Amino acid sequence: MKRIVIFASGSGSNAENIISFFREKPQAEVVAVLTNKNSAKVLERCDRLDIPAFYFNKPAFKDSNAVVQMLQGLQTDLIVLAGFLWKIPSNLIEAFPDKIINIHPALLPKYGGKGMYGDRVHQAVKENNETETGITIHYVNENYDEGAIIFQAKTSVVPSDEATSIAEKVHQLEYEHFPKVIEKLLS
Ligand code: GRF
Repeated sequence: MKRIVIFASGSGSNAENIISFFREKPQAEVVAVLTNKNSAKVLERCDRLDIPAFYFNKPAFKDSNAVVQMLQGLQTDLIVLAGFLWKIPSNLIEAFPDKIINIHPALLPKYGGKGMYGDRVHQAVKENNETETGITIHYVNENYDEGAIIFQAKTSVVPSDEATSIAEKVHQLEYEHFPKVIEKLLS
């Protein structure tokens, strides 16, 4: 049984979707959620779903081996970033080579990089009159949103779309594809 750890610091709807997906699968399970925000809604979801959740602060993450040691203790096979905004430090990337993936709510390399997250991405897509957007699932390296792309899916953007409706379409793609891509990576 492969062991997945999710990093999330927001609502955690993707985290919940992935946790539920793998409850039905024999080959992998989500063993923990890690967060850098002790007020994040994802923690309520973990409570309800009975998934262990751990909080870490910036010094523990950036300037120590505490998170790496925790992940090793959890015997982590794959780290899934689902709405996690801090840059991943090199000690973590070196300890888990090609074992950290992220989902980005746009078609990278467009609309990526530092500061491009959440509604800012969808707002920029709208302002640039894009006719399509989508999701990108990619490996994580030391630069924001620059690791090798594993999977992309597209959805259309129409002139009447606002950032909120674009976000909704993108979330639907995330829910549909992210668990399946993880399943494939672990098979
Ligand atoms: C998702 O849109 C994901 O692409 C991005 O952050 C958002 C997280 O949403 N990285 P949620 O917390 O899973 O609801």
